[in-house]
Amino acid sequence: MSQTTQTWRVDAPGQTLVLASDGGIPSVIYWGALLPEEQELAALKQACERDVTGGMIDRLPDLSLCPEAGNSFQGQAGLVLYRGTVPVYPRCKLIDADGRRFVCRDDADGVTLTFQFDVEGGVIAASTLLETDEAVVVHHLAAPVVPGPEFGAEILDFSGRWIGEFQIERAPWRAGIHMREARGGRSGHEHPPIAYFPENGAQNTSGTVHAMHYGWSGGHVMYAEEMPDGRRQIQWGHATGTRAAGMRFATAKLYLSVSQSGLNGCAVDFQRHLLDDVITWPHPDQARPVHYNCWEAVYFDHNVAELKDIAERAAALGAERFVLDDGWFGVRDDDTTSLGDWDIDPRKWPDGLTPLIEHVASLGMVFGLWFEPEMVNLNSNLARARPEWVLGAVDQIEGRQQRLLDLANPAVQAYLFDKIAAILSANEIDYIKWDHNRLLPVADAQQTEGVYALLTRLRTAFPHVEIESCASGGGRIDAGILVHTQRVWLSDSNDAAERLRIQHDAALMLPMAVTGSHVGPRICHTSGRVHDIWFRAWVAAQRHMGFEMDPRELTDVEVAALQHVTAWWKTNRNWRMDADILRLDSADESVIAEQQMARDGTQFVVFAGKASTGRQIMPRPLRMCCLEPNALYEIELVNRQEAHRLSRRDVPLKSGALRLSGQALMSLGVLLPWSFPDRMWVLQGRRL
Ligand code: DGJ
Repeated sequence: MSQTTQTWRVDAPGQTLVLASDGGIPSVIYWGALLPEEQELAALKQACERDVTGGMIDRLPDLSLCPEAGNSFQGQAGLVLYRGTVPVYPRCKLIDADGRRFVCRDDADGVTLTFQFDVEGGVIAASTLLETDEAVVVHHLAAPVVPGPEFGAEILDFSGRWIGEFQIERAPWRAGIHMREARGGRSGHEHPPIAYFPENGAQNTSGTVHAMHYGWSGGHVMYAEEMPDGRRQIQWGHATGTRAAGMRFATAKLYLSVSQSGLNGCAVDFQRHLLDDVITWPHPDQARPVHYNCWEAVYFDHNVAELKDIAERAAALGAERFVLDDGWFGVRDDDTTSLGDWDIDPRKWPDGLTPLIEHVASLGMVFGLWFEPEMVNLNSNLARARPEWVLGAVDQIEGRQQRLLDLANPAVQAYLFDKIAAILSANEIDYIKWDHNRLLPVADAQQTEGVYALLTRLRTAFPHVEIESCASGGGRIDAGILVHTQRVWLSDSNDAAERLRIQHDAALMLPMAVTGSHVGPRICHTSGRVHDIWFRAWVAAQRHMGFEMDPRELTDVEVAALQHVTAWWKTNRNWRMDADILRLDSADESVIAEQQMARDGTQFVVFAGKASTGRQIMPRPLRMCCLEPNALYEIELVNRQEAHRLSRRDVPLKSGALRLSGQALMSLGVLLPWSFPDRMWVLQGRRL
């Protein structure tokens, strides 16, 4: 090791990051499980020295926090920079370091790079700041680059679509770049900004896993590259070329997690991080209210008397927050008009929203309202008055007949603030559903910075108002938007079978309290399927529960089922608010199962969803996880009355509780009764 080598370590619960520098930009030489305090970092640095052979240059260029093309680095560079049309290849020296913040500078090119590492709960938050002496154009700036784990063959990331969010993709690590890029100007359905890197053999509940999440809502890029010398690197940044020329560029925070307990360890890190470190709750001491949202009941057809009737029925089901969705403003009778005209429609609401809000309040519910502030229809008073506020080319392809407002323009932000503030000030509103239903004509980071600024201003002025992030369902879900919001509308699919899967995979990032889930209409509006009311209710009860059907369609039996499940949800919501969602490794491929575990370990609930007909005739055992092996637990099937007569034997769980050790529950597992597909068993456990 050279005389001038410096080393540092960043420890978070369960993980250590070790950095080293010989005078240049530091490199991460270790990112993995927590190292013992006694580990000598100089020795670690020596252990990381790599050989070279024929056909290679004489020393491997550093895989630094920002690999530099100017240093003969042959892979993806961490910084792609132009002064005018001329590429710049800085070679920075480390000029200041305190173990958390590393400042590097190339005097000749006038480039300063600052890398910052902070511990936030169980994750390490890493970001890069680029400052230049002259205006430059940045095509790519990576958040601190980390080496890709070399003990796994697969990259696990996500794709998705409208009504089909969070689909797990498995790609092999292989020579060259595996690249994901969201170019729609939002984090997007298509490439959610999160990836897992499991070591070979890792599952939900076991094995070593690394995971990363880029907390930015404006579109991102990820490179997972295996270089010819075998080293791997992972880079995240804003989507390529989405920033205007300037002298100061910051990446979003890149969140790092390492687990030795399977995918779940990282999932729990991310879930807890969102709950404990990212989100600010308007009413931290209040329980999450059960929602009713009227969208799929009435769409744009608002009638005060009808909505009052619906509100009464929703309250009778157990709803505690009534959300009036799209259609209350301008002349919004369909989705071709009025976005931008945020004035209450006097045709539908001759006395304003007050009569409905007061009625809702008299039923013991709070009131929420839908907005889609960033958007405008050309058929609106706003677009006619302010055509220069509309973003993009005049002849652009529209999305849902709408365009974007130029959120980088302070006047646009001020207009939207005033409009929304006027509605919030004049009405008792405790919640906004903030929608975003089209992609940008050209991805542009300033749009996202603009919406963050607007949200910051609104949150400061109305700190008691909760905000939900919706973008045609789950098109804008990331830690960046959750700095300003508290709930996500995970999907426009209220199909319980599809939702079961989406929720399960989204739990690799999202906790229960943040994830909206509603019981939809009997005939699902996005799939045409009809599901049993209990299944629909339990799937919604897995997350932040609500209803979205027209309650006038419900039979008495359905009302009773919804009341029953809602009452269960309310009884359990407080401990489940910050519970960990642990995905179970089901031996039965037809079962999607999770265990929600109280943080203090005293209780849990298992949701075992039968997603299809099983291959074998009887269910296979289902193992729990993360229990105390020597403790005794009492488990009980909460909904055993749902057993069908084709489940013919009186197995013990159908008649009462069972007492088993944690070890037995984790090794033997439980045998659930036979059931139809599209059903859910709900098993509650208590440590004795
Ligand atoms: C898309 C959302 O995802 C829906 O829930 C609903 O709010 C509509 N927009 C309203 O236009």
